[in-house]
Amino acid sequence: LIGVFDSGYGGLTILRELEKLLPEYDFLYLGDNARSPYGGRSYETIHRYTLEAVKALFDHGCPLVILACNTASARALRTIQQKDLPGLNPQNRVLGIIRPCVEKLGEYSLSGHVGILGTEGTVNSLSYPIELKNLQPGLTVAQEACPMWVPLVENMELKGSGTRYFVRKHIDRILNSDPLIDTLVMACTHYPLLENIIAANTPKSIKLVSQGPLVAESLKDYLSRHPEMDEKLSKLGKRRFLTTESLENFEEKASYFYGKTLNASHIELS
Ligand code: DGL
Repeated sequence: LIGVFDSGYGGLTILRELEKLLPEYDFLYLGDNARSPYGGRSYETIHRYTLEAVKALFDHGCPLVILACNTASARALRTIQQKDLPGLNPQNRVLGIIRPCVEKLGEYSLSGHVGILGTEGTVNSLSYPIELKNLQPGLTVAQEACPMWVPLVENMELKGSGTRYFVRKHIDRILNSDPLIDTLVMACTHYPLLENIIAANTPKSIKLVSQGPLVAESLKDYLSRHPEMDEKLSKLGKRRFLTTESLENFEEKASYFYGKTLNASHIELS
């Protein structure tokens, strides 16, 4: 069983892509909807919440957990990998979604100038610039926090004029900050739902990068390089969904992110 964690619904856009590439694997999704969004929360809070979720997924039999959330990957992954995991279960693994994306960015940009669109938590953590400096030192990076985008998606405001206003505001701002940018990363799991409106407000010459397919390719590659982990993962094509929110609130909106209907169970984290 592969655990997939997100603060709420957004990780379902990543799970969709994982399933496409790895349909035979079993996945257990956990959304901490009762406490989302994480985007504006402190480092300590995001770490504590994410660690609780990782422990719950381990307890449900997931030896491998993907933090399918940029904010959690940015704020909690390193501490969990380095400080928490050795004392919890050193054989288990927790992976994030920032590195798989950063590793591929060099292939997209011709100008060598890329822009990162994310939540305040992701942007303020500087995780993308730091990882890019290590892995793609030739790239110049600009960042833009788009704090209104997650609430707009959560409120299903995909077509409203307010959404157009806030999309254009941040796209204009990041492109004005560096006119050489030719690649924009939608570095938040909610943003694929805004892809059409982002594309409509971005010059055609600029590539928009969606993370899901990159994360899926990276996971497939990871599993081929780690047969000892792959052997532990059940492969019956099953999906299960857990949420910290009440079920009637979760299932309808979750289907909108996941692209098909789903049934979930409630879980309390502590
Ligand atoms: N899923 C989060 C991300 O990818 C955004 C939602 C939140 O702020 O909790 O950054």
